[in-house]
Amino acid sequence: MKLKHNQKLIIGNWKLNPLTLKEAVRLASKIDPQPLHETVICPPTLFLSSVKYPRLGAQDCFWLNKGAYTGQTSPLALKKLGVKYCLVGHSENRTAGESEEMIQKKVSALLSVKITPVLCVGFGTTVEEDDLEVTDIIKSQLTSALAGIDASKIVVAYEPVWAISSGDPYHHKMATPDHAEKIAMFIKTKFGVKKVLYGGSANSTNALEFLEQPDIDGLLPGGASLLPKDFNQIINMSC
Ligand code: PGA
Repeated sequence: MKLKHNQKLIIGNWKLNPLTLKEAVRLASKIDPQPLHETVICPPTLFLSSVKYPRLGAQDCFWLNKGAYTGQTSPLALKKLGVKYCLVGHSENRTAGESEEMIQKKVSALLSVKITPVLCVGFGTTVEEDDLEVTDIIKSQLTSALAGIDASKIVVAYEPVWAISSGDPYHHKMATPDHAEKIAMFIKTKFGVKKVLYGGSANSTNALEFLEQPDIDGLLPGGASLLPKDFNQIINMSC
């Protein structure tokens, strides 16, 4: 039996990958189903009902469960599929026009069906900003998203937008585990959030340095979650 102490939360965000259901099922079958850390995979919505993994997450949802809303994904339908977590406010969706108001409504809808929202913040930050400027941006994103919400029931993922898909979160001095730790501490103390993840080019080479930070409760890898060897290393990394 693997040790369960200092267990972190690792959420693999597959984004719009892979292309076929066959590939998705195959990819999921290569991920260790009993890893050291609590592990969630988030395949594209289309594949959620067929991909087998002990913990599944969704990448986004709508804020209403049913009705005349073409193309949307119902939080209640996700719940019925066994989904445990759902990303909200990912930078890629904020870029596509998702507003703070939409994000707040999604967080609220997810809590009402007992799916844990994973609220992504860090959009709009740049590599030039210092810790204080970053906390200002994050504060405003959290204040809007958490209006009327019990912050202790959600997970926050700090994803500096410029580190996403960059291949190396250290490509600028700012994106260090120390910086992420300071931001995580700020989010917890100011908002009462219990779990904060780091995301943005997290991979098997840099994961340990983030996981060793006391206030970083896990990771949200994108690209690395599509590479079973790398991802299995991350989810079994003792820290
Ligand atoms: P990345 O993606 O690990 O490929 O940078 C993370 C994310 O966008 O959630």
